[in-house]
Formats: sequence, C-alpha cells, structure tokens
Amino acid sequence: MLFRGKGNRAGEGQAESQRAPRHIAIIMDGNGRWAQRRGLPRLAGHRAGVQNIRRVVEACAESGIETLTIYAFSTENWGRPEDEVKGLMNLLGEALARETQTLHEKGVRLRHLGEISDLSPDLAQRIRDALALTANNTTITLNVAFNYGGRAEIVHAVQGIVAAGLAPSEVDEARFADYLYTAGQSDPDLVVRTGGEMRLSNFLIWQSAYAEYYSTEVFWPDFDQEELRKAIAAYNQRQRRFGKL
Ligand code: FPP
Repeated sequence: MLFRGKGNRAGEGQAESQRAPRHIAIIMDGNGRWAQRRGLPRLAGHRAGVQNIRRVVEACAESGIETLTIYAFSTENWGRPEDEVKGLMNLLGEALARETQTLHEKGVRLRHLGEISDLSPDLAQRIRDALALTANNTTITLNVAFNYGGRAEIVHAVQGIVAAGLAPSEVDEARFADYLYTAGQSDPDLVVRTGGEMRLSNFLIWQSAYAEYYSTEVFWPDFDQEELRKAIAAYNQRQRRFGKL
C-alpha cells in the first residue's frame, strides 16, 4: 500500500519500496492532445487539466508528500495564440475563485512561483489573496508555477542578490537558493512529465539538479492516482547517489 496518509516518508520505518518522495514536481503536458482526440477545443483539455489538479493534490496529500509543484504556465506560453493565453489566465482566475476555500480547509498551503507583476491586476490580486489565506497551512504545499521560467528565476535571484548588496564571498549555493521563488523549500526529488516528451522545458532548472526524472505517455487529464503510484514506484526503483558512489 502506497497511500497511507501523513508520515509515509523516508526514514520513518517504511520499506524502501514504499517511500514517498518529499517533493514531486509535474510538467502537466498533453491537455491539447487529450482534447483533440475527443474532437474538443484545446481549452476543454486545459479545463480537464485543472480538474485533474485537485485529484492529484489529494492523492499527494494522502501519500504524505510534503510539496507538489505544478507547471501551469511558462514564460514561453505567452507565445501561444492570444485566445489560448487568455483562456489559461481565465482558468487560473476561476480555479482560484472556486477552489481556494476547499484547498484551505484541507490544509493546503499555496505558493506561487513566477512573476505576478506581468499578470492582470485582478488575477494578481486573486493570487495574493489565496497565498495570504493559506500561508499557515501545513498538510501539503502546492507550488503553482504560473508565468514561470527557470532561467528567468535565476536572473530574478541574481537581481535580488545584487539589490541586497551581498559581497561575492557571501554568495554560496545555499544563499543563492534563498533568492529563488522556492526559497525555504526542499528541492524536488522526482520530476514527472506527462504527455510523452522528454524535456525539462525550463522547469526548476536549478532545483532539479539531482531530481529523478519520470516521463509517461499518459496525457495530464488522465494522470490519476494509479499513474501517480506508478511514478512513485519507479522513483523507488532508483538509487540516488547525488554524484557519490
Ligand atoms: C500543456 O498542455 C499544458 C499547459 C499549457 C500547462 C498546464 C495547464 C493546465 C493544467 C491548465 C491551467 C492550469 C491552471 C492552474 C490554470 P499542451 O497544451 O501543451 O498539450 P499538447 O502538448 O497536447 O498540445
């Protein structure tokens, strides 16, 4: 049994094969193809993708995962047709309006990774409100990477360091990480990509330096609890050596 609720973590007496990673990060790909296969518009695929987020957050919380990061909108996604960009913005706004209270009641702490200031003032405010409401929750942290790019994040960190006036000798890897959007969080142990591609696509490029990588053909709207279990089982087959023997 993989899903045992909180406490299913490394070092807590679980057999090796049953350990849940602390932090899973997911590239939710394949919404467009999922819709296309059904003769539906791409946005219907994104809508189904949003529905699936709730299911996967619940499954992760049940299995004792501390942090789930989802890649919802990349800095490159601005290059999609205007209608699709608008649709994705609206979906986030609607999802926040509809789901924040429930997430809060379930103890989910929301964090945003990316630049809020480029978003519409209304969406930016909804995000800030949701972050403030859920800031002290402890069941699971859900990082929503929205208007996020890994290289942009690194530039953002460098800007923060320069603005803080740090001397070169004060900057090491740990201090650098304090200036990333993920400040204070553990690095992902497992990066999952749905939809069959084998690319990182500018996702958590600093944080996933030692992550295990798992790619599945399954489209994001179909990635359910059983698919999550398979990803965690694959993770448990890996021997993580962090560059050592
Ligand atoms: C990729 O599918 C999916 C994205 C652009 C990001 C994921 C977005 C969602 C799950 C919906 C929005 C989420 C929130 C929180 C509002 P794709 O369109 O690239 O699929 P394809 O490769 O089949 O075309």
